[in-house]
Amino acid sequence: MKILLTHIKELLQIRDRGIDKVSGDAMKSLPMIQNAYVLIEDERIVDFGSMDHCPSIAVDQVLDLTGQTVLPTWVDSHTHIVYAGNRQQEFVDRINGLSYEEIFNRGGGILNSAKKLQETTEEDLYEQSKVRLEEVIQQGTGAVEIKSGYGLTLESELKMLRVIKKLGQNYPVKIKATFLGAHAFPLEYKEDHEGYIQLLINEMIPVIAQEKLADYIDAFLETGYFSVAETARIMQAGKKHGLISKIHVNQFTAIGGIAACVENGALSVDHLEIVTDEDIEVLKDSITMPVALPTCSYFISIPYTPARKMIDAGLPLALASDFNPGTTPSGNMNFVVATACIKMKMTPEEAINAATINGAYAMGVSDEYGSITVGKKASLIITKPLSSFYEIPYAFGSQLIDKVILNGQII
Ligand code: NIG
Ligand code: FE
Repeated sequence: MKILLTHIKELLQIRDRGIDKVSGDAMKSLPMIQNAYVLIEDERIVDFGSMDHCPSIAVDQVLDLTGQTVLPTWVDSHTHIVYAGNRQQEFVDRINGLSYEEIFNRGGGILNSAKKLQETTEEDLYEQSKVRLEEVIQQGTGAVEIKSGYGLTLESELKMLRVIKKLGQNYPVKIKATFLGAHAFPLEYKEDHEGYIQLLINEMIPVIAQEKLADYIDAFLETGYFSVAETARIMQAGKKHGLISKIHVNQFTAIGGIAACVENGALSVDHLEIVTDEDIEVLKDSITMPVALPTCSYFISIPYTPARKMIDAGLPLALASDFNPGTTPSGNMNFVVATACIKMKMTPEEAINAATINGAYAMGVSDEYGSITVGKKASLIITKPLSSFYEIPYAFGSQLIDKVILNGQII
């Protein structure tokens, strides 16, 4: 099957093979071709360039995209799309003055979602979650990381991870699974942290790794959740079983967690609403991608990741949605990009780099996704006619997508 896209007004994010992320000043540039074509064969991009050099060959389908923009699909490297029910009551409680912390301390938050998930069958959980996955596909997401972490027992964590696996088998979107058993201490372990850590390390991680249900391991490294030392043990146990870490850290407090993550070879550190100068120093020249989640900041009214300071210091930065029932009930990456521009003062070029190529790095798929590159998967967003790609963050509330192509299939 060959598809030729012609007369593309702006073909964004064209990259040579081998570029797996962009950092610092390089994030300001978003390489593009005006009046361009893309040739897709089966599931891959096989050629692209200026219309001046458009090949005249027989193809199965031609799409004339005059006035329209084409970019790689969003890569959402941090989500919790698999969950049961919702937390609308906590949303209203926060409007009425309670904080996220106060809600958690009275047994809500993550433990509220865990209770709901434990009471939900695997089939029902799949049905509820696929609706959200279908929604983000329509919104232009072509690769997504999904975490467990609302199970908090071996049985329920396995249930979540099997649902994630099944979503990956049934949808043409690329999915990576992350084991987040260390999301919160279950009530019965509130006074016995060591007991839960032992359960994670000696029982959950080995089974999950053996059943190949996870690609990565995560923990909520935060005051009141998992300490630096506890998270380090979890990262090390994961590594022994081939699970590289991607860690929730510095959401509310900076307690030296980022240094521990870098030391343990984490692929990404995510949230980073509170970042110190020392945190920025340890991230420099590391393999660890910082990931900001601006729509979480928006939804629960906490500070935004200091993107300007980090990028100006030479760091790379990725953007992800954090789609989850408590702090971000949305996986709309267009809104994530817009919020990063509006609230974090990232330029449209920086934000699009952060939500494509750098997102791909943060979930370990940059060999296949995140840019328009010969040989990569043909996963593309085709926009409605735009005056320029600046309209993507500018018209933050508009639905600007005309079509999505995933692995060469028009959705
Ligand atoms: O990334 N901060 C930790 N975990 C999730 C939210 C968990 C929840 O409230 O359900 C997050 O924001
Ligand atoms: Fe999260």
